[in-house]
Amino acid sequence: MKYNNNETIAIRTQTKLTNHKEHSTPLFLTSSFVFDDAENMQALFADEIEGNIYSRFSNPNCLEFVDKLCLLEKVEDGIATGTGMAAVFASFMGLLNSGDHILSTSGVFGSTHTLFTKVFPRWGITHTYTNSHNPEEWKQYIRPETKIFYCETPSNPGLEIIDLLEVGNFCREHNIIFLVDNCFATPYLQNPADFGADIIIHSATKYIDGQGRTLGGAILGKKKFIDQIRFFARHSGPSLSPFNAWLLSKSLETLAVRMERHCDNAERVVSFLEQHPLCEKVIYPFSDYHPHVEIARKQMKRGGGIVTFIMKGGIENGRKFINSLQMCSLTANLGDTRTIITHPASTTHSKLTEDERLNVGIYPGLIRISVGLEHYQDIIGDISNALEKCQ
Ligand SMILES: Cc1ncc(COP(=O)(O)O)c(C=O)c1O
Repeated sequence: MKYNNNETIAIRTQTKLTNHKEHSTPLFLTSSFVFDDAENMQALFADEIEGNIYSRFSNPNCLEFVDKLCLLEKVEDGIATGTGMAAVFASFMGLLNSGDHILSTSGVFGSTHTLFTKVFPRWGITHTYTNSHNPEEWKQYIRPETKIFYCETPSNPGLEIIDLLEVGNFCREHNIIFLVDNCFATPYLQNPADFGADIIIHSATKYIDGQGRTLGGAILGKKKFIDQIRFFARHSGPSLSPFNAWLLSKSLETLAVRMERHCDNAERVVSFLEQHPLCEKVIYPFSDYHPHVEIARKQMKRGGGIVTFIMKGGIENGRKFINSLQMCSLTANLGDTRTIITHPASTTHSKLTEDERLNVGIYPGLIRISVGLEHYQDIIGDISNALEKCQ
């Protein structure tokens, strides 16, 4: 049976029942799968028939997780990976040759930036960052070797918004593959394929798990590109474990309700911070004063669960604030049930130079809040008390 609503798809997409008639999908903790006979084995290895061979290639738990994500992202095919970064790395490795060039928006996650600047150059793969939202300007950066346009929207941690339709049209016109890291929005709030993205990458570690329990990732998109990436992934082994896939598939069942509540709580935190005298600037994709709010509203259902703000008093006050929190967690994750507060300049983006940080909007006093699912009064109460200590 086919379902049209994401909530139902995420709950009712399930691995075929075994003879035990289980209600909830069992765990397939097996490294390999048995063949019926020599002919069956040969046909499976030759890709003449579909089926599981070895869990580095596929496993029923990983397939269920990916099937759900493909339906939620409205794409043809996908691969589950052990982490979000494995998804990022395998995508580039599967699609690029030495000498190729990547055009990317500059607000990308710290480890992705490290791949671009420190790892890919070892294979002659270069990149150009653009801050521009103008396709005419992007034209200046493309070369015959430009294979990929990469972006993150909303970006981590600056919450910059990229016009997916604009990039999608540009990529089609110039025959460039369009990759989007959709980690912050999740498939519940944004479907980049609707706007022309060829490949969508997720760190499932964040909202997809949503409970800070496991690492995971996914690469989703057009079959012709996924096939190329799958070849690399099958032989290099960034596979997701069946147990983590089982966990993540279960997590997807509650993604819709969790995202709605993350957004409700984030909006309340934004309203509180906007009124606070110590707050220089609040950044949230759906705030009327966000420079790209119109684009955000066009391509996202709601503004998401991440709020950033710049504190008056710079790095000193930023530290004092963080040290005064009683409930909110100081930890390097996001998208958890628990509210998490970080200071990107001294943590996730500390390997960048000061100039590089400023270039991607990471100011010394920038605080990132991953607004959790606790009662909003408790979240705001903790933030309020900590800010009071900084007056
Ligand atoms: C936007 C974004 N992409 C990718 C990643 C990497 O994901 P993982 O930690 O699962 O490897 C992160 C991690 O924070 C992220 O925020």
